[in-house]
Order: sequence, then C-alpha cells, then structure tokens
Amino acid sequence: MTDLLFAPPRIGALDLPSRIVMAPLTRSRAAPGNVPSDLAVDYYRQRASAALIITEGSQISQQGQGYAWTPGVHTPEQVQGWAKVANAVHEEGGRIVIQLWHVGRVSHPVFQPGGARPVAPTTMPVPAKAFVPGPDSQGTFADIPEPQELTIAGIQLIVADYVQAARNAIAAGLDGVEIHGANGYLLDQFLNSASNWRTDRYGGSPENRARLLLEVVDAVTAAIGRDRVGLRLAPMGKNFGMDDANPEALFHYLVRELDKRDLAYLHLGEPTGKGRKIATETDPRGQALMRDIRAGFSGPIILAGGYTRWTAEQALADGRGDLIAFGRPFIANPDLPARLRIDATLAEADPATFYGGGAGGYTDYPTLAQTASREVVS
Ligand SMILES: Cc1cc2nc3c(=O)[nH]c(=O)nc-3n(C[C@H](O)[C@H](O)[C@H](O)COP(=O)(O)O)c2cc1C
Repeated sequence: MTDLLFAPPRIGALDLPSRIVMAPLTRSRAAPGNVPSDLAVDYYRQRASAALIITEGSQISQQGQGYAWTPGVHTPEQVQGWAKVANAVHEEGGRIVIQLWHVGRVSHPVFQPGGARPVAPTTMPVPAKAFVPGPDSQGTFADIPEPQELTIAGIQLIVADYVQAARNAIAAGLDGVEIHGANGYLLDQFLNSASNWRTDRYGGSPENRARLLLEVVDAVTAAIGRDRVGLRLAPMGKNFGMDDANPEALFHYLVRELDKRDLAYLHLGEPTGKGRKIATETDPRGQALMRDIRAGFSGPIILAGGYTRWTAEQALADGRGDLIAFGRPFIANPDLPARLRIDATLAEADPATFYGGGAGGYTDYPTLAQTASREVVS
C-alpha cells in the first residue's frame, strides 16, 4: 500500500503534517449557554494529531441552532470556550478550524429567539423532526413547524452573522473556518431546487440559488482572509429533503464560481447512502459529478464519507482528492493517524453515545498505547 496519506500538504495558510483530517462531528455536549465544555477541550486535545481538526457544526447565531446542546460561536462565553479548545489543540501541535453552521428550517421554536418559527428560503416544511432537550437532560424528537420565508433584510442579517462568527473564531485563536454548505442546512436549502422555490434573486436558476452561499463566502473571506476559509458541500446529498432536479448544472456553475475565490479548500461529503458505504462503491452519476467538480476547482479538495485506509489511499492515488476526512473513525480512535500509519485495527464508534451525555463515548476511547498498557495490567 502507498503512503500518500502521510505526504504533507499545504492548504491555505496552513502547513499540514499529513492528509488525515478530522471530519466535523456534532456531539451535542455543550455546557449551558451552548459553550464548548471542558470535556470538549479534552476531546479535541486528544485528537490533535489530525492534520486538521474541523470542529463540530457551531451555530453562528441563536437563530442558526437546530439541535440540543450544540455549541455556538456568537457570545463572549462561547468564544472563550473555543479559545480554550484552540489553546489545547495548539499546545499539542495541532491545527483546528471551526465549522460555521446555520440550520435554517431544520430547527424548532425552542431554539429560536422569541420562540419564532425557524427560517428558510421558502415555507416548505422539512420532512424530519428536531432533536430538542427533553426531560432528565435526554434529547427527544419534536415536530418541526412550517418555516418562515426569509426576507431580503433577514438574509442580509444572516450574512452579517456569518462574518461576525468568523471574526469571533479568529479572536478565539482558531486557525480558520469551514462554512457549512452541506447536509440540508440553510445554505444547502438555498442551493437545492427541492427546498428553494423563491422567485426573487435568491431562487430559480442555479446562479440565483447559489447567490447566498457565494455572498457568505465573499463576506467571510473579506473579513478573515481567503486562506483561512474552507467550504463544505454535499453534492447529490439527500439529507433533510435535499433532492436537486439538476445537480450537474448547479455544481458545475457553483464550483467554477468558487474557484475564482481561491478558498483554502473545498470539502465534499460524498454521496454514500445509508450506513457505512465505501465511497468507491457509490453510483456512477455521483462519481461523474465528483469528477466534474474536481475538474472545475483548482484548490485542495477534502473528501469525506465512509473512507478506510485503503479507499483513502486509492482516492489520493487516483487524484480524486487531496486530503481525506474521517468522521466515525476519529470518534473511536483519538490517535487515528498513528493507527493508520501502522495499519492497526480500528476501534468501532458506538452510535448510542454519538449525541448527548458526558465523557462516556466521548473522551474515554483509548489510544493504542493506552489499550496496550491496559492489557499488560490486566
Ligand atoms: C455523529 C456524527 C455527527 C456529525 N456531525 C456533522 C457536523 O456537525 N457537520 C457536518 O458537516 N457533518 C457531520 N457529520 C458527517 C461527518 O462529517 C462525515 O461526513 C460522515 O460521518 C461520513 O464520514 P465517516 O464515514 O468517516 O464517518 C456527522 C456524522 C456523524 C456520524
């Protein structure tokens, strides 16, 4: 097997020691006030050997929250919490960017200022339930009401919130931001013909549906520098009612516009379907779309979605991407790069502890060295 995963790349302002990225992973364990907790400091510190940590999605405003106990990056306390996380990762020699999140219609009045209905491009309801705080600090699922259609003024406020959140991230000492344009959340809702029926300049053609995303990219790069801004997209993703009528036309246009912006990177969540499907097994249409995106974007591309050591090396060898993001493997293997280097068996993450709770299933997954010393002791 080749060792392309360990060839050090540069992306934007950052020199990385390998191509093994920690994918953004919501864990729903923020402290009161949606502040990253001390446990989060430990969790990210443990994973600092990643070439780059992309944090869990973090709401840019109260309106942008859609799940119980997700951290924000819009209050002074939250920024202080992120500063502790950034310090810890830097102390270990790592690098960390924060994923900037606005969920749009995938929210609930319990999270919204004044108990309002969530906002979206159009009033079409999302075919899903919201994960809200329940009794005994357990999360529970609740029906989502019909969203309210954003006004132009409302859209402009959201662009300003992205800018402020990005500035907050830099003030916290984080190395940059990843704009979350994937997985059926606000920016994806604007992109996707299934959730955007607007008739103004933000709806209709691919150019119009891509407008908000590009405005956010332009405003955030102007605020903190293009070499500190990445973007995540999910071409042909089906999360939360996404189902674009012509993803080829949409992404062909969008990616070539993004290429002009010289971002630090483009991060693609590959169409993987349900469960842990190997990326190379996905459908030919998805693969053709990925090839067109690769051809249209000259900057670094991070691929994510069901990768193993083997399929990651193949993707790099084939030139399909430049870095590979691992999600679930990083939950259960805090020292994932060390394990991949020696092709060690990986621990499996337990889905029961993905969201909510405390240290269990969060900071108590051992490193290989810890596992070995436990075996010696017992
Ligand atoms: C528990 C969990 C939380 C996730 N949270 C996020 C998130 O906050 N933002 C995001 O863009 N993707 C999120 N994802 C998707 C992952 O980043 C990744 O794309 C996905 O897990 C596939 O990669 P994997 O097969 O290596 O786990 C999440 C996935 C899981 C399993």
